Amino acid sequence: MAMEHRPVMLEEAIEALALSGDDTVVDATFGGGGHSRLALEKLGPDGRVFGIDWDPEAVDRAALLRDRRFTFMPGAYDEVLWRLVEEGVRADAILFDLGLSSYQIDDADRGFSYVREGPLDMRMDPSRGIPAAEFLNTVDGGELARVLTEYGDVPRGEARRVTSEVVRRRPLVTTRDLTEAVRAAVGWAERGGHPAKRVFQAVRVHVNDELGGLRRALEASERLLSEDRRLAVITFQSGEDRLVKRFISDRVGRCVCPPELPVCVCGARPVFRKGPVETPSVKETEENPRSGSARLRVAFRTGEPLDEEKGD
Ligand SMILES: C[S@@+](CC[C@H](N)C(=O)[O-])C[C@H]1O[C@@H](n2cnc3c(N)ncnc32)[C@H](O)[C@@H]1O
Repeated sequence: MAMEHRPVMLEEAIEALALSGDDTVVDATFGGGGHSRLALEKLGPDGRVFGIDWDPEAVDRAALLRDRRFTFMPGAYDEVLWRLVEEGVRADAILFDLGLSSYQIDDADRGFSYVREGPLDMRMDPSRGIPAAEFLNTVDGGELARVLTEYGDVPRGEARRVTSEVVRRRPLVTTRDLTEAVRAAVGWAERGGHPAKRVFQAVRVHVNDELGGLRRALEASERLLSEDRRLAVITFQSGEDRLVKRFISDRVGRCVCPPELPVCVCGARPVFRKGPVETPSVKETEENPRSGSARLRVAFRTGEPLDEEKGD
């Protein structure tokens, strides 16, 4: 039985969105609905929250949230957000709380856990893509080593050793097969946590095309957000954090205006202004170790049109 999911940086993220009365909020990663619920508390009777999640089990949890201001939209966030762009929806706040929920991690049958044995699957939406086992049993060694380094920050030498071990042990069927391949390759040295943690993370990021989906979703977000309104993203690993940081910096461009100026006067015409970057409190990381690697990045949409909207 899965534990309740404890939302990470709950107050900080909702505070950062500066919600008021009749705002339209998009919670792109509904999960167990912790952030959606708090957002609804901040809104008035005409506010609304769209909750998105592609995990079929999130649908059942969303059904428990009986509030006429809430609409659940099942699907991949990039696809749902682009649909909202096409429908001409405007959002006042968009939140991403990336990664997995405790419901997913704790359910051995989903194949995300390196401590509980289950089928080697790792798909957040089991109806799309290929299971982790199929990927691991067919991928070329060089490509697997790249995935481990790029998406799991596995040091190159370690990635090569894990890759050789995986290839030697094929076919892998369960999560234990992968954990044991990692153990045989790198031992049980507890440097920075369980040795299989980064390998599982890398395979999961690849199998779910997490970085590709996030990039497309952020591109939809800049089209959805109203002027002066906010994007907040909670990241948990360096690959996704780098992507979000770069996305925001690219849109801030060369603007050198002081943050207190209401409009850009330096001529750079940024699409976003950089907001604060926060990490969880010591109390939160003590109470919920899963929050340890979290980072909350905030950006404010300016009124600057995107290139395709400029009509020149
Ligand atoms: C960390 S949990 C969110 C927890 C949530 N904020 C709460 O308070 O309960 C992340 C959720 O995002 C979902 N998710 C991850 N990537 C997604 C994607 N590309 N499209 C839709 N949902 C996604 C996962 O299925 C998971 O339920």
